[in-house]
Amino acid sequence: MGALEVRRFPDGEKYLRVLSDVKGQNVVVIQSIHHTPDELLFEYLLLTDALKDLGAKQVTAFIPYFAYARQDERFKPGEALSFRTVSKLIESVGTDEIYTIDMHQHRVLKSSEVFKIPSHNLSAMPLLAEYVKKSGKVEHPLIIGPDAEAEQWAKIAAETIGTDYDVFTKKRLGDAHVEVRPREANANGRDVLIVDDIISTGGTIIEAVKILLSQGARHIEVACTHPILAPGALEKIRGSGVVDVVGTDTVPGPISFVSVAPVIAEHAKSKL
Ligand code: R5P
Repeated sequence: MGALEVRRFPDGEKYLRVLSDVKGQNVVVIQSIHHTPDELLFEYLLLTDALKDLGAKQVTAFIPYFAYARQDERFKPGEALSFRTVSKLIESVGTDEIYTIDMHQHRVLKSSEVFKIPSHNLSAMPLLAEYVKKSGKVEHPLIIGPDAEAEQWAKIAAETIGTDYDVFTKKRLGDAHVEVRPREANANGRDVLIVDDIISTGGTIIEAVKILLSQGARHIEVACTHPILAPGALEKIRGSGVVDVVGTDTVPGPISFVSVAPVIAEHAKSKL
């Protein structure tokens, strides 16, 4: 593991120093871009630019939570295409290859649509589903993805646990407001596991929970890869009737019970 010194100058600027000899080495940089995304992105840019300048042969980025991926389209005239800008910045400092985990891909369906360098999107959902299965708190649960995009994660969770799944449809009405509608499955008398990539305000999960409770769900749990958890989100979710919520450490926090380290290690070892 390489050593770094990262601190702030008194004026607020970031200082970063690579303390290990990286000349001629293949380097793996792991930097999740969560709670303070602008700062953590900038650290990544300083670090990778320095590594390349110091003679690193190849830099492979693992960005477990890739912020800004949700702004993948110009929803209103004049908006910045943040996903594209961030991707360009990451490439511009000499990143040779990039790995993300359950990156938000709603309208952009493949990371290769955004990145020119080789890119791979891994999933933490098998680990999350194993965690829920091992907890033994749900019995033959119905897996629910709260929107069409979540089908990929609902499918993985259902296969891992050995059960059935369905997805709801969702319309976003504002930053914290969504409208969710059911499709075919009925949760009456069932244990339910809701799976999603991100919990931010919790609005999506809470709307899904309302439907499931009105159908007569017996016990509801939630698993997500990136528990961003805006202020008050966890309390609102717990207060909505959800028994347990679990996330991973792509965004470290109070429900980060599952580590993505094994997923990263499995792919990183071939890069060193
Ligand atoms: C959006 O499509 C994502 O997959 C999540 O469903 C969404 O980001 C969750 O956000 P919130 O918790 O604010 O509803």
